[in-house]
Amino acid sequence: MTSFFFFFAIYIILINADKCSWDNCHKWNHSQINIHFISHTHNDLGWISTYDELYEPGPWRPSLRNTGVKEIINTIVYELNKNTTRRFSYSETDETLFTEQHHWHNHKGPACWESEYHLSCRDEPFVENEQQGKVNVDKILDKFVKYILSRIPTQKHRHFLVLMGDDFTHSVPDSFMLNLEKLIYYLNQKYYDIINAFFSTPSCYFKAINEIVKRKHKFYLEWTYQARF
Ligand SMILES: *[C@@H]1O[C@H](CO)[C@@H](O)[C@H](O)[C@H]1NC(C)=O
Ligand SMILES: *[C@@H]1O[C@H](CO)[C@@H](O)[C@H](O)[C@H]1NC(C)=O
Repeated sequence: MTSFFFFFAIYIILINADKCSWDNCHKWNHSQINIHFISHTHNDLGWISTYDELYEPGPWRPSLRNTGVKEIINTIVYELNKNTTRRFSYSETDETLFTEQHHWHNHKGPACWESEYHLSCRDEPFVENEQQGKVNVDKILDKFVKYILSRIPTQKHRHFLVLMGDDFTHSVPDSFMLNLEKLIYYLNQKYYDIINAFFSTPSCYFKAINEIVKRKHKFYLEWTYQARF
């Protein structure tokens, strides 16, 4: 069982790294606000499961039924197949990045941030027409965009990392990815002149930041060159 766990952990990292995930990024535009939605999960080994239970909880632990790595991976693959624009990160190795960004989880927002720390996320699903209830598309978008705009002054670049998900979140087949897809769709539709939103991964985000750093460096070199000669 232990070896199974390792097999799956490595396999998923390979899917992420296959064709190098940074070659598989959606296009960004440095002149716009680029919102990198990183849909992810990670399991804290030893947090609630034992090592073996992490892969597939036994029937004697019904409370862990939806938390097994096996179930999570099945669900993710199923969800990813529904739309090729979707991306997902499953990795314990990005822990540092995620730890630094953990405060996103606690932020009150329209989607996953309403989750409590270390619990599953609860979406406010989009209601898109009156037959389904009170239409909330504009309300969700406004809230989200306000939040993003309030963060702009805190950054030196225009790439925003928004982590969606939490521990064990994706074991339950739910509308999580669909809701995120809709958020991306409406953001790009309504704010196309300033916002560029897309599914992303940690490596795509770092690639984008790296481009900016390189550009600045090049600019600096050209500037010093011109200043001297
Ligand atoms: C990038 O965004 C700017 C500002 O919205 C726009 O003028 C430009 O055409 C965009 N570039 C590309 C390649 O889409
Ligand atoms: C995939 O998602 C994009 C927006 O994120 C949407 O425009 C497109 O229709 C979706 N494709 C399918 C097959 O659902």
